[in-house]
Amino acid sequence: MSESGDDYIVEMEGITKRFGEVVALDGVTLRLRRGEVLALAGDNGAGKSTLIKCLAGAHRPDSGTIRIDGETVDIDSPRRAKDLGIETTFQDLAIADNLTVTQNIFLGREEVGGSGGLLGVLSKGKMRKRAQELLDELEIGVDVDETVSNLSGGERQLVSISRTMLSDPEIIIMDEPTSALSVEGAERVLELIDRMQRQGISILLISHNLDYVRRAADRIHILHQGTDAGVLDGETATQDDIVKRMVAGMPDSERSEQAADG
Ligand SMILES: Nc1ncnc2c1ncn2[C@@H]1O[C@H](COP(=O)(O)OP(=O)(O)O)[C@@H](O)[C@H]1O
Ligand SMILES: [Mg+2]
Repeated sequence: MSESGDDYIVEMEGITKRFGEVVALDGVTLRLRRGEVLALAGDNGAGKSTLIKCLAGAHRPDSGTIRIDGETVDIDSPRRAKDLGIETTFQDLAIADNLTVTQNIFLGREEVGGSGGLLGVLSKGKMRKRAQELLDELEIGVDVDETVSNLSGGERQLVSISRTMLSDPEIIIMDEPTSALSVEGAERVLELIDRMQRQGISILLISHNLDYVRRAADRIHILHQGTDAGVLDGETATQDDIVKRMVAGMPDSERSEQAADG
């Protein structure tokens, strides 16, 4: 628990990241509560992907602090992020068309076999069984033996997201999971996010679609040109409230309040 009594699973404080002359993030502070869906909104180039890449171990911030479960951590690789219970799905799906659903779910995962911790591979039968369990738990009606090229865009995204559940993560980051999908495909992804939340997973969701953001998110954190533009309640925020902050950043009144609060 933090001093304020809120139970944060992720606290990113004062995160700054530069790419040469470009300041992608300038002292951003983002907090994810345990079990919530937090949306990250902002115009193109606002720094959303850079921020989540700092949490996923793909980038290292130039400065700032990251705490997971209250412990300060140095997430210096994607491997380290996974070890901390953080899984990520990106917009460009890392999915292999010519493989089956089961093969995709296990793609690149080495199962630890035996008590000696030797690296081994699960038998085909076991992988298939585990994949089926995973899809059943998430109520995804896709055939585990189907070749992925025969699936719709929405189904592929469901498989890609369900993959992240294999390691039993605490935190899942989704960068634009609905952007390439039909309305129906996006609906299924939103339902999946809801089911994952009910399983106790804390979710950080990036999306351009503000309708989806308002429906899925408990809170909406807005970025503007690499700076914080405030956090709104998902239930009460209007599209207008969100867009204003995306375009103009944090209102001056709020900025001075925060400065006064220290
Ligand atoms: N690898 C990179 N090299 C150089 N500049 C980058 C890199 N990644 C992001 N940027 C720049 O950082 C800023 C924030 O980008 P990004 O985090 O991708 O924004 P968003 O995801 O909100 O659209 C942009 O100006 C972008 O051009
Ligand atoms: Mg992005």
